[in-house]
Amino acid sequence: MCGIVGAVSQRNIVPILVQGLQRLEYRGYDSCGVAVNSAQAQMGQAAGLQRARSTSRVAELVAQVNDEKTGLQGLTGIAHTRWATHGAPAVHNAHPHFSRDRIALVHNGIIENHEELRAQLQAKGYVFVSQTDTEVMAHLIDSVYTGDLLQAVFQATQQLRGAFAIAVMAKDEPHRVIGARAGSPLIFGKGEGENFLASDAMALAGVTNQILYLAEGDVVDVQLGSFQVFDAAHQPVQREVLTVNAHSGAAELGPYSHYMQKEIFEQPRAIADTLEGIEGIVPELFDNPASVAKGLAAKVFADIDSVLILACGTSYYSGCVAKYWLESIAHIPCQVEVASEYRYRTSVPNPRSLVVTISQSGETADTLAALRHAQGLGMDKTLTICNVATSAMVRECSLAYITRAGVEIGVASTKAFTTQLAGLFLLTLAIAKAKGRLSAVDETQHLKAMRHLPVALQSVLALEPQLIAWAQDFASKENALFLGRGLHYPIALEGALKLKEISYIHAEAYPAGELKHGPLALVTSAMPVVTVAPNDALLEKLKSNLQEVRARGGVLYVLADADTRIESGEGLHVIRMPEHYGELSPLLHVVPLQLLAYHTACARGTDVDKPRNLAKSVTVE
Ligand code: M6R
Repeated sequence: MCGIVGAVSQRNIVPILVQGLQRLEYRGYDSCGVAVNSAQAQMGQAAGLQRARSTSRVAELVAQVNDEKTGLQGLTGIAHTRWATHGAPAVHNAHPHFSRDRIALVHNGIIENHEELRAQLQAKGYVFVSQTDTEVMAHLIDSVYTGDLLQAVFQATQQLRGAFAIAVMAKDEPHRVIGARAGSPLIFGKGEGENFLASDAMALAGVTNQILYLAEGDVVDVQLGSFQVFDAAHQPVQREVLTVNAHSGAAELGPYSHYMQKEIFEQPRAIADTLEGIEGIVPELFDNPASVAKGLAAKVFADIDSVLILACGTSYYSGCVAKYWLESIAHIPCQVEVASEYRYRTSVPNPRSLVVTISQSGETADTLAALRHAQGLGMDKTLTICNVATSAMVRECSLAYITRAGVEIGVASTKAFTTQLAGLFLLTLAIAKAKGRLSAVDETQHLKAMRHLPVALQSVLALEPQLIAWAQDFASKENALFLGRGLHYPIALEGALKLKEISYIHAEAYPAGELKHGPLALVTSAMPVVTVAPNDALLEKLKSNLQEVRARGGVLYVLADADTRIESGEGLHVIRMPEHYGELSPLLHVVPLQLLAYHTACARGTDVDKPRNLAKSVTVE
């Protein structure tokens, strides 16, 4: 979603700003821009605030800023990638937004009272040139600016409702950028004689690894050789500068055609890294590395009587798998809720419930808001399964398990999902053990199965040629059904989500037993029906469901375990999974579905890593 980079330096900062935007591209955007603040006129460029904006890729913005005629240079600047919320993706809506050519501002988030503020500012004579909520902030700051940008930001932000991270410059203060955050992440980067702002440490990879994470309500005054952070009460405050070695988003593709393909194939390594060093199941695995309180997980696990999982999208589906594990292995009641629903409904809080948030990014606005909502209801036992150790989610939960998927660039989540499942399986075992419901024999067997996962995943990845063949059939379809039962119903849901988000084929998933309650009406020879068929207790029931489809002329594509006695035939395509994997089977069965979606999207020629209308981190509601 939107990204911010800002800098105050003694060198031309434009190349650093646009490189920062390039590192944030994977998050998704539909326009981008950069502005500089120059004390003096330069060749072909006037003094003051100047900007370049584009509705194309950052590469086009780079061409603009390097162009002899339209080129941009400056020692102080701010830059932005925008994912449209208020106003279409158009140049006039792209950031930075200016007010009277003396204030420039970039913004992530959503200002909820923008209409009211817009009316007040229009009454004062401000003319709006965009449909954005962001332009309101630029004019608001200008309206209270009397020569000190910090004071103007203090004053203006008090009038804002909603979520924001901003970086602001004033024409008359050419060596200063002010940053502020409330509800959206913003970091400060300390360089050698130069300082930076960004929405994500990755934007500054290779520029500085000295990172300060601004807390909720913080404002930072960034100057050439100095900086000062102020808390929500506008009092100076010391915050720790951490050494963060963020990897560049522009990681090498190697032999792969897209990041999604690379990330699918990284899963054996990602799972091995996520499980590295685990000798036995101990609650300490879930003590939060970002917190000094150690030993908390043991106390929490002993006390809880249920689990409430909150997440969105693919992370929600990993939570749905975990519900089966938590109830069948740890025998603890578990509820899974879509975060955007939970945060707005009246629920019955249980202070003895463990609230588990699941998030790749740790920044998803709905999941963070759902977490805060649960905390506000008195549910203070919180744990996150998250892939970003420095994220707000990890900072705001008392317990955490950090997955080690590595940076995930493709918008469609793949390795984040399987590593979340690994973390959730460990959590299940840890709660089961804390409750005296895990025998030593079972613990050893589960750990052995987990350690074997990387090898098992490799064998599944070797099925790629067969999935490419299936993808040729799918490429011409407009609809698909996915079926699964039990533990594998969420895998069917995830398979359908993968297919729809990157190939734009309409796909729906059902628990196979639901077929005859409605979706069977859709089944014709034009409807491919993908079925996840592990060799488990529900196999015979699932086979009856497959008969129902075949009897209506539906064409089946079945991922069948060995010994299921499901064989290819007329209207029935079978890919044999290498081995049956018991409770951990969802980690294996999801992989062919990822490959099917990936190759179908390639065959249809879509933008696999940046599907239309979608962003990697959904940091607004
Ligand atoms: O970063 P998060 O895991 O919190 O993101 C949640 C969803 O936005 C994300 O899983 C989304 O559904 C993916 N595009 C799915 O591939």
